[in-house]
Amino acid sequence: MNPADVKSALTFNRVSKSFAGRTILNAVDATVNPGEIVVLLGRSGSGKSTIVNLAAGMEQPDSGSVVLAGHPLAQVSERERTLLRRRSVGLVFQAFNLLPELTVFENVHLRHALDGRDGTKEVEAMLAEVGLAGRGGEHPDHLSGGEQQRVAVAAALVHQPALVLADEPTGALDQVTAGVIVDLLVRLTRGRGGALVFVTHNPEYVAIADRVWRLDDGQLSQERS
Ligand SMILES: Nc1ncnc2c1ncn2[C@@H]1O[C@H](COP(=O)(O)OP(=O)(O)OP(=O)(O)O)[C@@H](O)[C@H]1O
Ligand SMILES: [Mg+2]
Repeated sequence: MNPADVKSALTFNRVSKSFAGRTILNAVDATVNPGEIVVLLGRSGSGKSTIVNLAAGMEQPDSGSVVLAGHPLAQVSERERTLLRRRSVGLVFQAFNLLPELTVFENVHLRHALDGRDGTKEVEAMLAEVGLAGRGGEHPDHLSGGEQQRVAVAAALVHQPALVLADEPTGALDQVTAGVIVDLLVRLTRGRGGALVFVTHNPEYVAIADRVWRLDDGQLSQERS
């Protein structure tokens, strides 16, 4: 392993991935440094979510390697990958992805619960950070879309992951609410020393980036913003 990998939140080393004979990623090299904000742009179907899925160990590359927070994902068991994902990654999706049968508090507390830790204070602090203090007892289906996404952000960040992967987190929100979610993601990831990969169609979000990735025809081009 390259010693630089140990320090990165995420490294792709010549990662290739095809689906049904179509090359989606062609020997992609990429690194996300700790605390860095990367905005990933690309048209629909270019492979942005595939990058997220590979980074989180939910998909495996056909060739090349993915190193998450210093751990080469191909060299660990499925169980260890699941644990790594739970401890080192925070995921936010377009569709909020909350568990409807759990309360707001329980949704945010889930990682701590799975790891057998109390975490009550952290969860309450996090709910206050996202403007939902006192709402922990409610169920997600009683919340607006923007509020549900704030819960999802709290749940993704409460355990201070090394890497936050946000896949079109504003896609289902109006512009003002989207701005609130972006501000929260940027402030809370930076404030906790985490790195953020923010996937979007919207080139306006380049404004938040330390670095911009553009995915096109299997190639990832990179530029500093
Ligand atoms: N598990 C899979 N099985 C088969 N094909 C897949 C799978 N995952 C992705 N693909 C294909 O790979 C291509 C890239 O998909 P991906 O979801 O990564 O694109 P995207 O850039 O996230 O698009 P969008 O902006 O619409 O979300 C698409 O053509 C998709 O159909
Ligand atoms: Mg996608």
